[in-house]
Parts: sequence; C-alpha cells; structure tokens
Amino acid sequence: MEIRAEVGDITKIEAGAIVVNFFEGMERPEGDTAVVDKALGGAISELINQGEIKGKLKQITVIYSLGKLPAARVVVVGLGKQAELSQDKVRGAVAETCRLLQQQNVESMATIAQGAEIAGITVAGAAQAIAEGALLGVYSFRRHLTKEAEHGEIKQLTVVDTDETRLSALEQGCQKGRILAEATNLARDMVNEPPNYMTPTHMAEMAAKLADTYGLELTVLEREQMQESGMGALLGVAQGSRQPPKFIVLRYQGGDSDETDVALLGKGITFDSGGISIKPSEGMGDMKADMAGGAAVVAAMSAIAQLKPKINVLMLLPATENLPDGSAVKPGDILTAMGGKTIEIISTDAEGRLILADALGYAKQHGAKLIVDVATLTGAIRVALGDVCTGAFGNNQELIDKIIAAGAEAGERIWQMPMYEEYKEQNKSEVADIKNTGGRLGGAITAAQFLAEFADGTAWVHLDIAGTSMSTKKRNYQVKGATGVPVRTLVNLVLSLAK
Ligand code: BES
Ligand code: MN
Ligand code: ZN
Repeated sequence: MEIRAEVGDITKIEAGAIVVNFFEGMERPEGDTAVVDKALGGAISELINQGEIKGKLKQITVIYSLGKLPAARVVVVGLGKQAELSQDKVRGAVAETCRLLQQQNVESMATIAQGAEIAGITVAGAAQAIAEGALLGVYSFRRHLTKEAEHGEIKQLTVVDTDETRLSALEQGCQKGRILAEATNLARDMVNEPPNYMTPTHMAEMAAKLADTYGLELTVLEREQMQESGMGALLGVAQGSRQPPKFIVLRYQGGDSDETDVALLGKGITFDSGGISIKPSEGMGDMKADMAGGAAVVAAMSAIAQLKPKINVLMLLPATENLPDGSAVKPGDILTAMGGKTIEIISTDAEGRLILADALGYAKQHGAKLIVDVATLTGAIRVALGDVCTGAFGNNQELIDKIIAAGAEAGERIWQMPMYEEYKEQNKSEVADIKNTGGRLGGAITAAQFLAEFADGTAWVHLDIAGTSMSTKKRNYQVKGATGVPVRTLVNLVLSLAK
C-alpha cells in the first residue's frame, strides 16, 4: 500500500472511497464532513437526523455517491466523543475502515487527517496513526496459501488536507507511521512463519538481509564461538536440537561515541516443545511463536536504522530450538552461564531464561549501559495479565517509566509487576548458584528475578510478552495471529533515549 499526503479538496478526489468522520454527541457535520455532506446534497446530515449515524467509535457508514462526487463511496467513520479521542482510537478506526473497504475491493482511498489537532493529537501524530492503522489493520499472512485471496488490496491511501501549512507534518507522520507499521508487520511475518521455516538459521539470514539493506553491523556466533564465550546455558538448551543455534548480533551506531547506549535482547526459541520436560501435545504448535521477542528486536532494528536516531543500539538474539533428544539437557543437570554462574535445571521447559542469561552476560561484557529484554517467557504472565498488557519487570524505575510511556504512545499497554526480594528465595538451589524454576507461585516474577541475577547491577527491564505476542481475534488494528508487540514500543523508547 502506498501512503501519501496531499493538499486539496477531498470532494474533488477520484478514488474508490473518501473517508470523513463524525463525533458522538454532535448535532450536525462540521469541517470537511460538512463540505462532503453538502456535495452529497445533505445525505450525511439526513442520516444523522434519522439516528442512523451516531458517531460511536468505529461505527462505519458507507454512502454511495452515485455520481454526485468523483469518489464512488463516502465513508463516515465514528470517532466517539471528540474530547476522548486518542491516536490509538484513530489507528483502530482507520484499520476497521480499511478492512471493510478492502472487502469491497476498493483499491484507492483518501481520508481527511483524522484526529489532527483534536484532543492534543498533533498533525504529524494523526498522519502517523492513520498510516499505522491502515498497514497494521489489513495485514494478513498468506505465504503458505496456494489459493488467491477472496478480495483485492488497497493499493493507495492519500491523506488529504486543505491547509498547505500542514503538508510537511502530514508527510513526516505518514513516513514514520509506515516505517513503524512495516517493522511491526515484519515481526508478525517472522512469528507467523511455521517453525520448520523460521529456524535459527533463517532468523540469522533475515538479520543478515536487514543488515545489508539498512547498513547495520552483523555478527553471528556459531556453536563453537558460543563455547569460546562460555555460553553454557544457551548451548545447554541447544544440545537437543539438530538445528544449529545462532547468537545473532546487530549493531546500529547512530551516536558520536563508541559506547553501547542500549542493548535490546530478544528470546529466540524457534520452537519450544519443552524439551525433556515435554509440554502436552495440544496447542504445542503455538510454540512456534516462542521467538516473538527475537522477532520484535530485529524488526525494531530495521525501523531504528531508517529513523536514524543519534544513539548506539546493540541487538542480541539468542536463537535455538528446545527439543527432546538423547543428548538433550535433563532436569538435574547443572549448566554454567557466561560469566560463570551455575544453574540447576529443574525444568527443561524453563529454557527462555537460560538463553537470556547468556545474552545478558554478552550485553554486560560489551558494556551496555541500559538493557531491555523481550521474551515470551512464562505462561504465568498470561494468567496474571491476559492478552491485554505486557508485564514489565526491572531494577531501574526510570527505565521502566520510560518504557511504559513509550508503550502508551504506541498503544501497546505495559503493566509493571513487583520485584520484591522475597520472590528470590524461590530460585535458591542447594547444588548450584541458582535454579531455573521457582515453582508455580508468582511464576512470571520468579522468572524475572532469575534474569535480574544476570543483569546484575546494569539498568535493565524485562518485558514478558507471552500474553500479548499472539491474538486470537481481530481487534482494532490487531488481526488473528502474531501482533508484532512490542516493536513500536522499542522504537519509541530508543527515539526517546536519543533525545
Ligand atoms: N515459552 C514458554 C512460555 C509461554 C507459554 C509462552 C504460553 C507463550 C504461551 C516458556 O518457555 C515456558 O515453557 N515456561 C514455563 C515455565 C515453567 C516450566 C517454570 C511455563 O510458563 O509453564
Ligand atoms: Mn518453555
Ligand atoms: Zn519458551
């Protein structure tokens, strides 16, 4: 889909549809909606008077112009109460509008700058939300379907505004929104891909392609180099798999110094069977998505490389399968992580924290000043927070607050979880420095406390996305399957840190 901004009169636009809006509680159309209403001979006001158009959020009314306008359809989208409008509501309303028009085989559409200068939304912010809503909302994963889609695709979306002074902000917003949405859709593609395709090797190939396209520095550690670095925890998880593990490193150098300002770590388990502590077979296929954290950090790097903030970012993606095998790691084994700490394996299904322990060790060795890790780490976070928000844990309140704010801007909800000392007791081992599970109680927190041991003093935040990485239904700009959470949060965070 091509997205652009243009100065002009929307009633003059030739397209499959033009989109205006109506706010709940208003009596008559205003602004651009009033202009379009007039061109339609008062059809919109008539429908408002009849109580048909109420302006409720996401109420979509399609009016056929029947020759009164160059555009075949006029869409009136409800945006709820004007004072309560937000960027995220614009994303959702635009997503649903685009999905509906796509089903009607509309190929080109134009919209007014929905939300611009309303309820604190800037002109650029409105354009960004429109671009994100459109691209995220019509996303589908069809790579392995051999039959064609039942409907066409929207090829062109134009944001039209009468005010010439707003054009550059609209263009900037469209551009940023497109970059963020495309990165999110890249993460979605990676997560939706079946596990026989999205292997650690394939993840490394994707990182290499991004490095090539956007000028990022790439390093991939193979098994032998992991051994040299002492990554015994990652190697332990990988030893039951025939697929070679990869420790993928991408570096973006936008700052003036050589320092590593921030490290983004992502869990890259391309399939989690549980290993010897094998999971029940029902629903096991969903564990192809256990690399969603890894996908999010690579995808975020692609956006960061395009947006070019003045900051240095190190991305670390430990990637492996977790499978049972004659040589697999067993409960009772003790592994030694990078840096020397020993870990007693209680469950081979608590593998995410093991591979992240080595990634944290690597980040610290490379002098990362701030560390953020993203992982589908625990079933427990889904019990606690459902699929509505991501759980945040950390040792630095300032960084946690920044991430929560970055998430709010993206419309990706993040909820801080407690990290009281007492939870650490559950991770105590009698035979090693720490054990890899702390029991059922507070499972998401004890997992985070395990990671905290390896972050050890460096400012660090852990995002548990086990509940938010996949969606079971269409909701606003989310579709069924991978959500691409928290790509946009990570990018917003890096942009805010660069300021
Ligand atoms: N990948 C899972 C967590 C998960 C569960 C992600 C459901 C997405 C949906 C993780 O590796 C895991 O198996 N965690 C165990 C930990 C337990 C053994 C301490 C869990 O949550 O049951
Ligand atoms: Mn597991
Ligand atoms: Zn896992």
